[in-house]
Order: sequence, then C-alpha cells, then structure tokens
Amino acid sequence: MNPTELLHFLNKIDLFHFFSSDELAAFLEKSREVQVAKGVVLFHEGDPGQDMYIVVRGMIKVFRDNRVIHLIKPGDYFGEMAIIENQPRSASVAALEDSILLQVPLAVFQEYFSRQPKSLVSIMRTLSQRVRRDLEILGHDYEQINIMVHDMKNLLTPFHLLEVMERTVPGLAGNRYLACMVKARGDLLILMENALAQARRLQIATPIHTDSLDRLIADLLESAWVVHPDIGGRGIRIEVTGSLPEFPFSSLGLCRVLSNLVVNAAQAGEAGGLITIALSREDDEAVVKIIDQGHGIPDEAREKIFQPHFTTKSDGNGIGLISCKQIIEETHCGNLTFESTPGRGTTFTIRLPFSARIG
Ligand code: CMP
Repeated sequence: MNPTELLHFLNKIDLFHFFSSDELAAFLEKSREVQVAKGVVLFHEGDPGQDMYIVVRGMIKVFRDNRVIHLIKPGDYFGEMAIIENQPRSASVAALEDSILLQVPLAVFQEYFSRQPKSLVSIMRTLSQRVRRDLEILGHDYEQINIMVHDMKNLLTPFHLLEVMERTVPGLAGNRYLACMVKARGDLLILMENALAQARRLQIATPIHTDSLDRLIADLLESAWVVHPDIGGRGIRIEVTGSLPEFPFSSLGLCRVLSNLVVNAAQAGEAGGLITIALSREDDEAVVKIIDQGHGIPDEAREKIFQPHFTTKSDGNGIGLISCKQIIEETHCGNLTFESTPGRGTTFTIRLPFSARIG
C-alpha cells in the first residue's frame, strides 16, 4: 500500500476519525509497516508487550492454547491490552494469511491515543464490544455444559438397578464390587448436582465427616482402582505404607484427589510398575505421599503443572491437577506440592491439617 492509500485507509478507522491530515501523516512516520507471513506467531500469551498493531491487510488470529478467541480483520487492531494494563500479553497472536500490519510502539500509542479522550472512547468501545461478545460465548458454552450435565444425570438412572440386583440376584447381597458401583453412582450424582448448583450460583456446603483415610484408600485399592484401565488394566501395583488417625475430611473430595494422582502416577510409569502411597503424621498434619517411578515431569513443565488446561499428555485436558489443588487447598486448608526427577519418578505430597476449620 502506498502512503496515500495508507492514509486513506487509516482515515476510515474509528480510532483515527478525529485526526487531522498532518497528525495522521506524523503518526504514520512514527509507526512501522511489517509484513507477516501466513502461520507466523507474532507473540505468545505471557510475553512482554510494548507494541500495538493495526491490521492493514490479511487476517490475524488471537488464540489461547488451541482455542481461537477472535479473528482480527483489516481496520481492527490488537496488542493494546498489554500496553494499557502494563501486563504481559493476554493471548497469543498469529497470522492466518499473509498480512500487513502497522506496528505502533508504546511511545507513539501514548502520544496519540492515551492522551486523546476521543481515541480513548474509541478504544473503550472496542474493548466493550469484545467483553460483550466474550460473555455471550461464555454464556453459550456454559449453557451447553449444563445441558449435558443435566442429561448425564438422567442417563445415570438405570444404575439404580444395581440395588435391585443386590436384592434379587442370589449371592449378590453385600457384594463388595456392587457396593463400589453404588457408591460411584452416588458420588457422580453429587458432583453433577454440585455442577448444576454452581451454574445457578448456589453455595453448596461440602459434607465433612471424621473418618479414616486408611479405610478410604483400602476401599479404592480393593475396588475402583482394580478395574481402572490404567491401574488394574496395566497391572500397576500399589503399596500403602504407614497409617493415620481418624480426622475430618471430605471423603468424596479426597477420593477424587487420590484417584487423579494415582491415575497420573500409573500413566507415567511402565505396565506392572509400582506406586507407593505413604501415610504419616507430622505435628498437626496428615501427610500423604503418592510416589511413582515413572518418566517424571520435564523441567520446562514444572511451573505450569497447576495451570488450567496445561497437560503433558497427548489426550489430557489439564484439569485433574487443578481439581486436586482446589480440593486440598480450598476445602481442606491444606497444600499440594510435588518433587520430580525426570526419568526417575515423581512424588506428590498432600498435607492436611487435622484441626483446620474446613468445608
Ligand atoms: P494483548 O494482551 O496486548 O495481546 C494479545 C491481544 O489479543 C490483546 O492485547 C488483544 O488485542 C487481543 N485479545 C485478547 N483477548 C481478546 C478477546 N477476548 N477478544 C478479542 N481480542 C482479544
């Protein structure tokens, strides 16, 4: 685009409506035209950011992880948030087509936009439109998930037949595996009710009872984990060492945490490998260690392991560890940490205060 065409193009953009021709020409002098080839990533989420970009030609994709948030067309701009907030980039940006951009350095942004009320209003309008659109998308996604959870609850109904079987099929009364399935159905119903209540913004108290964690682990070991494809299915051995006194905890919560951590440990190791669950008491805390001898956590992943949607598994969705951290820290006032040596194994450590006011 030659300078006259570029001036004409900028003139049509809301952000520049009130610029005089001289101002616009001076602004162009201080900005830089850059060509970006299709597929090139301009910056990643979390990078420091000092420039804003106006799209002159082509198409730009704003994305987080693998999710596209927005497509930016000619006349629109991006990269303003890092400058306005003085924070790292809020999302990653790549060219969807061969594109031409106008790069506006921080100093030029401050000179021409930050001090001009009309241009600030124009930027606010753009941001407000983005918030409105994002809220709509979020609301729609949320509703879809609610519909699915609601229908899953209904689809669980046939599992009430388990109790009928227990009563009517000879030899099944008191069967441990049947009891495990009945409990799993009940736990699933509770989680689904919680998810639906959360959607209605209802606060549901987590039931806390004084119980034996040793017994909870023994139950999982003898039933749910035996039939888990990544544990029983691969012949993973689980050894429990030590024991704990009874103390107050959410049995469903710790069941979710232990299952997540043990499944991760099993997936990290070889078939037939060993996982140790070490229970001990340290001062006023219960300490539970889940120790595996698997491939470990790569150094570059250590910082991100508790971030939403971060996963090192090809089919993972990166929410298991977030759920563990929430249950341990928010419900039990405890903490969850890990140590790992790549190639040697990983130990996750759960600390649960016996006397915290939890729930
Ligand atoms: P910045 O945070 O500097 O870098 C990433 C850019 O992506 C950000 O500025 C915005 O320009 C753009 N961006 C981030 N989130 C959204 C969104 N929800 N809708 C449209 N654009 C966005």
